[in-house]
Amino acid sequence: MTDRQNEFQKMVVYQIYPRSFKDSNSDGIGDINGITEKLDYIKSLGANAIWLSPCYKSPNEDNGYDISDYRDIMDEFGTLDDWKRMTAEMHKRGMKLIMDLVANHTSSEHKWFKEARKSKDNPYRDYYYWADEPLNDWQACFGGSAWQYDEATNQYYLHSYAVGQPDLNWENPKVRQEMIDVVDYWVKLGVDGFRCDVLDQISKDFVNNKNGNGPRLHEYIKMLFGREEVSHIFTVGECWGAGEDNIKQLIGADRKELSTVFQFDHIVLGRGDGGRFDPAPFVLDEMRDKLVKWQLFMQKNDLPATLFLENHDQPRCVSRFGNDAEKRYESATMLATMVYLQKGIPFIYQGQEIGTANPYSENIEDYDDIETVNFYKRNKGKLTDKELFAKMNFGTRDAARRPMSWDESENSGFGGKPWLPIYNRYKEINVKADMTSEKSVFRYYQQLFRLRSENEAFISGAYDNVTGNRKGIYIYKRYTNDERFIIVCNFENSNELKLDIDCEAVLTNCGRKTISGMYEPYECAVFRVNR
Ligand code: GLC
Ligand code: CA
Repeated sequence: MTDRQNEFQKMVVYQIYPRSFKDSNSDGIGDINGITEKLDYIKSLGANAIWLSPCYKSPNEDNGYDISDYRDIMDEFGTLDDWKRMTAEMHKRGMKLIMDLVANHTSSEHKWFKEARKSKDNPYRDYYYWADEPLNDWQACFGGSAWQYDEATNQYYLHSYAVGQPDLNWENPKVRQEMIDVVDYWVKLGVDGFRCDVLDQISKDFVNNKNGNGPRLHEYIKMLFGREEVSHIFTVGECWGAGEDNIKQLIGADRKELSTVFQFDHIVLGRGDGGRFDPAPFVLDEMRDKLVKWQLFMQKNDLPATLFLENHDQPRCVSRFGNDAEKRYESATMLATMVYLQKGIPFIYQGQEIGTANPYSENIEDYDDIETVNFYKRNKGKLTDKELFAKMNFGTRDAARRPMSWDESENSGFGGKPWLPIYNRYKEINVKADMTSEKSVFRYYQQLFRLRSENEAFISGAYDNVTGNRKGIYIYKRYTNDERFIIVCNFENSNELKLDIDCEAVLTNCGRKTISGMYEPYECAVFRVNR
């Protein structure tokens, strides 16, 4: 790890999906000024950095991940001046701002693409991939062929996501320079880092028929971020396809590529071959095993890990991996303890801190996510409506995108009548109710992040899995020469634990005092070992 990577391990990142966070002017759409209003709230949770999903100009085919102008703010979200004020307020509070960088594709409404599609000899033509016939059978992530016919020039262009998200051709040096300029533009305006959207797809491997992890990936990333001018910023790559060797290259101390990556092995659990809409049997032991594997790998190679359970693409963790009915508080807090005291950088997604569970709807009007809507269109009539909606409720990205519930008032304290229906459980699960509840997920998170920030063992300390061959439980240690902690996370069934260790509980979700004894479902505790 470089010194900077080491330093970054002190971060706790809170992710905001701006459209759904807080609407300051009551037009039903979350906005920049709404974020500014809530900075003290985020700070009080213990976060010291914010990752903002895209807030640039966009026609919103994929809610901002289709960018039509990289250098300006979406009108609905406010102005560049609002953004500057928000950034200044963050910095005043000692918080970092991480912007979302969508480098693999633009919107088809971007000036570059509007020009490119006009004629084969347009100066912007080579900013994108064009061919007389589809070059391969690649599928777009949101369904259908990844090649779209364009009448004006009688050719096809490549889009790995929506039709309105044409892939940029990074082999063109002009494209690379444009993206470098975008990075520099925001860094000059004070941005502290970037979360890099589907970054491993910027280099395609046409030879081996893979839409990602291409031969020039590392060269491109180094061009973007290996430069002295931007060496201070934090960068995290969304790299779905990155295995062990690739991760070593992407974030190795001598590589000048990225600070860290998101690794998704544990997040795809509980899904069958059909992907996000295909529920499959799942037990938490599987998640523990994935977490352990990556913790050990990252530690052995001295690489900084990321720790997360949710983001704007994933349904709520308490519904997926816990019990969002009778044991919502217990499972939400246990999952947090299981993941966030491990070694790495915590990322938490808006609403997770109050144990928000998945919404439920059998009305297609309640869905907005292009991936879900396309899935519905493809399968309508093939499955019964009941089957179809069961799958959609299981996997939809909209679960994370319902407006944040601030209180029990009309529109859940979000603002005006929202763009997506308010969360159906908002009367029960909202910030105000949670904070005043005896069982407050928010307060638990607060304590957890405080514990983490106050004890070096949780930052630079070593990690050790001490579960042994026990089932239904995860036990791990974090320690330095001076302090030692044992973390016990019990899963869905009761378990008895006998451990002869002199220690005291410093954080628990069920009032535990001793490490040995019976653990109830989802009970967890952190113990300081006496010496
Ligand atoms: C990433 C984003 C997702 C988006 C896709 C295309 O996976 O997280 O929300 O739809 O890239 O930009
Ligand atoms: Ca608004």
